[in-house]
Amino acid sequence: MLAIPGEGIEESVVAIEQQDLFQSTQRAFVRDLRPGQTVDAPFALTHLALKTYAGGKFLQAKLGDRTGRIAAVLWNGAEALYPSLQVGDIVRVQGAVETYREKPQLVIRRLERLENVEHLDPNDFVPTINLNSEQLIDELKTIARTVQDPHLLELLGMFFKDTPFLEGFLRAPGGKQWHHGYLGGLAEHTLGVVRNCVVLADRYPVVKRDVLIVGAIFHDLGKVLEFVYSTVIDYSDVGRLVGHQILGDHKLCEYAGRIDGFPQELLLELRHLVLSHHGESPDAARQPQTREALILSRADDLDAQMNAFTREILKARIAGRKWTDYVNLIGRYLYDSGGADEIGEVVIDDV
Ligand SMILES: [Fe+2]
Ligand SMILES: [Fe+2]
Repeated sequence: MLAIPGEGIEESVVAIEQQDLFQSTQRAFVRDLRPGQTVDAPFALTHLALKTYAGGKFLQAKLGDRTGRIAAVLWNGAEALYPSLQVGDIVRVQGAVETYREKPQLVIRRLERLENVEHLDPNDFVPTINLNSEQLIDELKTIARTVQDPHLLELLGMFFKDTPFLEGFLRAPGGKQWHHGYLGGLAEHTLGVVRNCVVLADRYPVVKRDVLIVGAIFHDLGKVLEFVYSTVIDYSDVGRLVGHQILGDHKLCEYAGRIDGFPQELLLELRHLVLSHHGESPDAARQPQTREALILSRADDLDAQMNAFTREILKARIAGRKWTDYVNLIGRYLYDSGGADEIGEVVIDDV
């Protein structure tokens, strides 16, 4: 282990035996870290940068586990340690939680890259929501059964019977950071969009309900392939090079291709829903050109933004603040106007 002399931190880290360190029932998780607390626990390194200050170089990092992420700094020996580390490493960290700019920050006293991590549960390191998968699939199937068109019912059957893909769907994140950026997030988000579309199909009976519901269930299927998530959530090669809109279109065409006589015009309408679900966003493959596509893009955006707003506001609430930090991605601060503590289970991170 590389020892880093502490600066202003008492040597009060309680020594924990290696085997205890790995017991997920005993170790410290990010969600529970509070200023003043000492820490000796394994984390995934989710961000790493060598920075300069008046006294030399320091390491700026983010450490993650299944409950969230925390900012961390290491002041001494940073330059020597930096080349041996990379994002995705599992590291043992000893240090203390302090407050920096009103937010918790872990000041690292010792940091060790763990080489043998086979005995660790990868699920302990990636932000994860505890979903009731069975209940979620049951609700999706219940809504799917309200579809009338026999070809579309067959198409939905293809998805629900595609067991390995369905497992990926239940495990995949819904995004990398902004919305549903945790394992299980894709399924949670998909159900959210489908629920929105059920309501909006009633509100606007002029649209084709069947097409809208199937489009909602299928809209983000490409995300099953878009991400990798062994110790941190990141884009896969195909995710970066092709992206989930096109990957989702391929999946849809693959299922439809296995159904004899699947109407081509119906397929075209559905493909358009998948390809245009990002609305007028610059990254949208197509912009909505049907009423169903318009509704889906709004239903998708609403569910994504509600999740992101809620997570930002809860972070501020935990820190005892009414206002969030400035959110670069949307160019504004958000305000905690009250409301329920949680909408389902919310995974907090500090990004
Ligand atoms: Fe999407
Ligand atoms: Fe989406």
